[in-house]
Amino acid sequence: MKKIGFIGYGSMSRMIADKLLEQEKIADEMVLVSTRTNGEKTETLRKRYPNVSFQSPEELAKQCGLIFICVPPMAVKETLTKINPFLQENAHVVSIAAGMTLDRLHAWTNRQITRYIPTLTSETGIGISLVVHSERVAEDSKKRLEGYLSAFSKVKNICESDIDAASNLTSSSPGFIAAIFEEFAQSAVRNSSLTKEEAFEFLIHSLLGTGKLLLEKQMTFEETLQRVATKGGITAEGAEVIQNAMPGVFDELFARTGKKYAEIKEAVRP
Ligand SMILES: NC(=O)c1ccc[n+]([C@@H]2O[C@H](COP(=O)([O-])OP(=O)(O)OC[C@H]3O[C@@H](n4cnc5c(N)ncnc54)[C@H](OP(=O)(O)O)[C@@H]3O)[C@@H](O)[C@H]2O)c1
Repeated sequence: MKKIGFIGYGSMSRMIADKLLEQEKIADEMVLVSTRTNGEKTETLRKRYPNVSFQSPEELAKQCGLIFICVPPMAVKETLTKINPFLQENAHVVSIAAGMTLDRLHAWTNRQITRYIPTLTSETGIGISLVVHSERVAEDSKKRLEGYLSAFSKVKNICESDIDAASNLTSSSPGFIAAIFEEFAQSAVRNSSLTKEEAFEFLIHSLLGTGKLLLEKQMTFEETLQRVATKGGITAEGAEVIQNAMPGVFDELFARTGKKYAEIKEAVRP
């Protein structure tokens, strides 16, 4: 079995490695990690999985058949060019960086490359893994990677041209949802004698319950609204406020995030 390497051991890398190890998809002796800083995160990993090996990026590249590059977008070029001379002939390199396109990645290595956009929600076993394989990726490499990712998420292959918009709906959306519901809770506090904690508790149950209705009962957003909002009733009144205000808000969100993605691509030239 091919060894698996993680370069960078931050929030996402830890989530992916933990999930694969917890679900026993991989054994700890198969895992190599390369990280700049040794801290609490790596200490916890060492304690839980003593056979995980910590190596330099170059040594990791020599030993691993599948490598996840989990560093910030601006550090991907440096990382990939550093390990490229040491990569195995059939190495499969997976970049999880936002905005780092396949054409950029191809400029820095001629090995098999996949872009994978994870989401924090996969920590709970629910989340979409967005995947774009380059044309160089062999079928068995695709199958192996997707097999690993499906242990803790639903894998969706998409066109690279849609990956930024799709990332807004998967990897960024927990943050967007949190931002929206923070505002909802703050408004409840301003408009009643409820505490922030009470507003948070009520909303969190609504969020979880709505998610379950949508997923388990396969209800659409429209059906959910229809079930809750009787015509001319209170909920319909509130929903109209949202329907009036939100198209502009979300169009601006896509415009602003699109601009940011373009800036990242522009900042890292091949
Ligand atoms: N967070 C998300 O929800 C999410 C979702 C989708 C995609 N992503 C992508 O995932 C990647 C990692 O994000 P993250 O949230 O896991 O970040 P993070 O928690 O900040 O972890 C980043 C890791 O990269 C290392 N690193 C930073 N700069 C480096 C450099 N110049 N050279 C080598 N290593 C470096 C850090 O090491 P130190 O600890 O030493 O700083 C750390 O181990 C990013 O490219 C991001 O676009 C994140």
